[in-house]
Amino acid sequence: MNIGILGSGDVGRTLGAGFAAGGHDVRLGTRSPDRDDLQTWASDTGATVTTFNDAAAFGHILVLAVGWDGVENAIRLAGRDHFAGKTILDATNPLDFSDGTLRLAVHGEDSSGERVQAWLPDAHIVKCFNTVGADQMVNPELEGGPPTMFIAGNDDGAKKTAAEVLDAFGWEAVDLGGIEMSRHLDALAIIWITHAMRAKSRNHAFKLLTD
Ligand SMILES: NC(=O)c1ccc[n+]([C@@H]2O[C@H](COP(=O)([O-])OP(=O)(O)OC[C@H]3O[C@@H](n4cnc5c(N)ncnc54)[C@H](OP(=O)(O)O)[C@@H]3O)[C@@H](O)[C@H]2O)c1
Repeated sequence: MNIGILGSGDVGRTLGAGFAAGGHDVRLGTRSPDRDDLQTWASDTGATVTTFNDAAAFGHILVLAVGWDGVENAIRLAGRDHFAGKTILDATNPLDFSDGTLRLAVHGEDSSGERVQAWLPDAHIVKCFNTVGADQMVNPELEGGPPTMFIAGNDDGAKKTAAEVLDAFGWEAVDLGGIEMSRHLDALAIIWITHAMRAKSRNHAFKLLTD
């Protein structure tokens, strides 16, 4: 499978490395493909570092892993047409630290997933990977695992693809329904981050217990 990763931060590099280790062809998009650290990452993982546009054109599945303030611009640089009909794994969190407290930049009857779906109406957005730290996204090693990744999106086929990716990465996917459930996944990310700050640890994830 061709995978296009949009974003060169911890999330993009972690998921890109995970897909590459699983035998997929990975292109990671950034505004600075020549950066030394990214080229080193590419030679370590076997992935390619390229532009947002090339990564988006290449991927059958795309991962959106851009800081919230840059998402609209990254989509513009990637080229909207390159998203049409594809499964987009949206890991973004609309975080706002502007007044020194952690809050959501998008809230109420709105969310990051709904915004991205509105910007890309022909794409199949699946909100996922946003409720855990990058370090645990691929093959999480936690007591009582595998942990649960809650997902949300409007297209059942895209959510099935996301669930297969999550299974390969050591997660149980739980489908919460349509993309509007991203409102609650954005909020759940705040809970993950708040616990990380209070516990001074990033080694935690959510688990849905059932009988
Ligand atoms: N870090 C985590 O543990 C974690 C966990 C769950 C979810 N998330 C969410 O996942 C997303 C990525 O997080 P991250 O920590 O990997 O990286 P990040 O530092 O939040 O974002 C880095 C990426 O955003 C791009 N970017 C920033 N401003 C841009 C702009 N104006 N135009 C185009 N691109 C822009 C950068 O592009 P360049 O490559 O060109 O610099 C880079 O690829 C965020 O929304 C974050 O909230 C993070």
